[in-house]
Amino acid sequence: MTMILITGASGQIGTDLTLELRRRYGDRNVVATDVRHPRNPEMEQGLYEFLDVMDPEGLRLLIEQYNVDTIFHLAAILSAVAERTPVRAWQVNTWGTVNVLDTVRRTQVSRVFVPSSIAAFGPTTPLDKTPQDTIQRPNAMYGITKVATELLGDYYYEKFGVDCRGVRLPGIISYKTPPGGGTTDYAIDMIAHAVRHEPYVCYLRADTSLDMMYMPDALHACIGVMEADGAKLRHRNAFNVTAMQFTPEQLAEKLTSHFPDFQWSIEVDPIRQAIADSWPNSMDDSAARKEWDWTPKYDLSAMTADMIEHVSKQIHDE
Ligand code: SER
Repeated sequence: MTMILITGASGQIGTDLTLELRRRYGDRNVVATDVRHPRNPEMEQGLYEFLDVMDPEGLRLLIEQYNVDTIFHLAAILSAVAERTPVRAWQVNTWGTVNVLDTVRRTQVSRVFVPSSIAAFGPTTPLDKTPQDTIQRPNAMYGITKVATELLGDYYYEKFGVDCRGVRLPGIISYKTPPGGGTTDYAIDMIAHAVRHEPYVCYLRADTSLDMMYMPDALHACIGVMEADGAKLRHRNAFNVTAMQFTPEQLAEKLTSHFPDFQWSIEVDPIRQAIADSWPNSMDDSAARKEWDWTPKYDLSAMTADMIEHVSKQIHDE
C-alpha cells in the first residue's frame, strides 16, 4: 500500500481510518473522499476530494490523478436508514461497490477493502458463536446489500483477480465522529449520556446481546487484513471479527460503576429491535485469528474507561 484512497471518509469509521492511515503511511499518501465536507477539522490537514461512489468515472480520474494502488471502500448507508430508504440503500451499497470493484479491475489498483457486517447474517443463522461459513439469509435491506457485496468481492477475486479483502464488523464504538443511523449506535449514545449525567432512553430491549468493538481494534482489523500475507488467506473476504459482546443492561451496569447516578429506561423501536434480534449474539472469529493473526485489545471494561476519558475531554473542550 503506497497510495491509498478512502471512500466514505467523513463517516464514523472513515474519519478514524483516514487519520490512522495518514499517521502510518504519510499525509501525502492518503486521499480521503466523500460526498460530504469533512466534519472533523483534523481531516482538512490532508488530501480531501469530493467523490460520489455512484460515479465510477470520477473514481477512475482520482485513481489516475493520485496513482492510487489501494482503496478502502467505506461509503454505505447503515441499517436503520436502509430500512427507511431501501432502494437508495441498495443503490449506494451494491452499485457503489460494483462501481469500485469494476473500476479497480480496469486500473492499476492492486488491493481493495470492502467491509461487511454482523448484518450479513439473519434470523435463520446460528446466533451464538456464529461460524465463519454459515446460513446467511438476512431480512433487512442493509444485510441484504452486505451479503451481495461479500459475494461480489469473491466474484471479482475469482473471476478477475481483484484482491478484494474484508471483515464482518460488529457495532463500532468511537468518539471522533458520530455514527449515521445504525442499530448498534445506542452504545455510543448511552455512554455519552452517562458522561453528561443525562438520563438515557434506549431503543433496544435490555437483554439484546450484540457483538461490539472499540475503534482502535476496528482500525487494526481493517488495516490488518489488508496488510496480511495474501498467500495465507483462505477466506480473504468477509472475515468474522469481534472484540466483545454485551447487552444494554450490561453496558448500563458498567456505566453505573463509573457514574452511580446514571439513569436509563427503555422505549423499544420495533424496527431496530427486529434488526438486532436477527443479528448474532456473538461471532466466532477463529478464522481471522488463524489466517492473519487477528486479536482485539479492548474488552467492555477497557473500552468503557477509554470512551469515558475521551468523551469527558470533548465535553470539557466544548
Ligand atoms: N453498526 C452497523 C449498524 O448498526 C452494523 O454494521 O448498522
